[in-house]
Amino acid sequence: MTVDLPDDLLAPDAVRDPDAAAAVLREHDPVHWSPTHRAWLVTRFDDVVAACRHPALSSDRVRPLMERREPSHDASHRMLALISEWMVVTDPPAHTRLRRLAGAAFKQQQIAAMEERIQTLVDELVDGFLADQGTDLPRDLIAGVAYPLPAIVIAEMLGAPPEDRDRFREWSDELALVAFGAGGDARPDRHERALRGLEEMAAYFRELVALRRRDPGGDMLSAMIAGDGSDTDGLSDDELVGMCALLLFAGHETTTNAIANAIRLLTADPALRDRVRDDPALVNPAVEEALRLVGPIKVLVRWVIEDHELRGRTIRRGERVYLLLCGANRDPERFADPDAVDLARERATHIAFGRGIHACIGAQLARIETRIAVGTLLRRLPGLRVEGEPEYLPTIASRAQRSLTVVHDGVAAGSPR
Ligand code: HEM
Repeated sequence: MTVDLPDDLLAPDAVRDPDAAAAVLREHDPVHWSPTHRAWLVTRFDDVVAACRHPALSSDRVRPLMERREPSHDASHRMLALISEWMVVTDPPAHTRLRRLAGAAFKQQQIAAMEERIQTLVDELVDGFLADQGTDLPRDLIAGVAYPLPAIVIAEMLGAPPEDRDRFREWSDELALVAFGAGGDARPDRHERALRGLEEMAAYFRELVALRRRDPGGDMLSAMIAGDGSDTDGLSDDELVGMCALLLFAGHETTTNAIANAIRLLTADPALRDRVRDDPALVNPAVEEALRLVGPIKVLVRWVIEDHELRGRTIRRGERVYLLLCGANRDPERFADPDAVDLARERATHIAFGRGIHACIGAQLARIETRIAVGTLLRRLPGLRVEGEPEYLPTIASRAQRSLTVVHDGVAAGSPR
């Protein structure tokens, strides 16, 4: 019997159920050449982990695009130039330096100490969400809680004044549109408007950098300006602007989707939902299982810079490799009963945050935000359930629901804490 191998990750079936598509590939052709994407699709856990550490696979994927184009002064070129400096799209040695400087600033932030503030923000957002329940506003938990939370956290972390919070949310959308061509709005002028918005964002960060150079605070931008003490190769103003944009881009939509996807997964089974609600110790393992089963990033992209073999296939220089985190995270060779939520599973063995030198630098913050948001929502909205089937945005990289319409049985007594 021949098996129909899924080839197009943007086909409606694969967008609706990426895990099923990845399962077929993982079983029948774990290193699959996709003519549609002109890329190798890699789906087994061990292969994906090894690929994340393989020196023949490069993350430097924006600069070559720019070099192939005519240099120009248009906004789109300037934005690509900003993005091409992001550490997530660089290789060593440039990456090593940027990561060291950002890592030092993250350490100084004492992320764990932000828990109390994040709890306050979540409670405020849930209050607002509940206050809207009496009106005709849609009961979309993404718009009400999961979307604004990480934007506010990043804005505060960077030391931006509170009145600028909403602009961070807009810029984040615009960044996604330019970096990935994502976004549901297909109006032709949308791209141009996004670029204008991003120019405004870059100008804003430039001013914030100048302000924090003159008047440092306890925020992460001030820590990045101060450097790691080595004092020889601190970040330039352009690099600081790029770093602010990257943190917003990498930390916003991902965390929104982590919260939304976890809520859908955990409320789908009322017994599981109530177990997690009644035992706060289960929130952490429940969030880890959600990251594994419905993680916000489905695919990582790498460029091949040296011919090499993988499972008998020759992977050639110049080709692309798609690492399917969604395939790896349900690999039965790695996880017993991989499609089940198992709250007793060993912690953090999944690959939702990547591996190797680019492994997510914001994982601790993302985990704290997701745990607090999920724990609080289950506690404060008893009987929480999601209406309708999920509708995912048609993107290769992210698992992003368009909305999350919920109902619940009232408000828990005595909340917020
Ligand atoms: C649940 C939420 C998140 C998920 C699932 C996630 C996932 C990932 C993954 C898979 C990578 C590796 C990319 C690659 O190898 O190409 C990554 C890198 C990165 N993440 Fe996250 N992330 C999340 C939240 C955050 C947050 C909150 C921040 C910061 C505020 C952040 C900042 C970054 C940065 C700067 C990188 C690039 C690191 C490097 O290139 O060395 N992420 N993330």
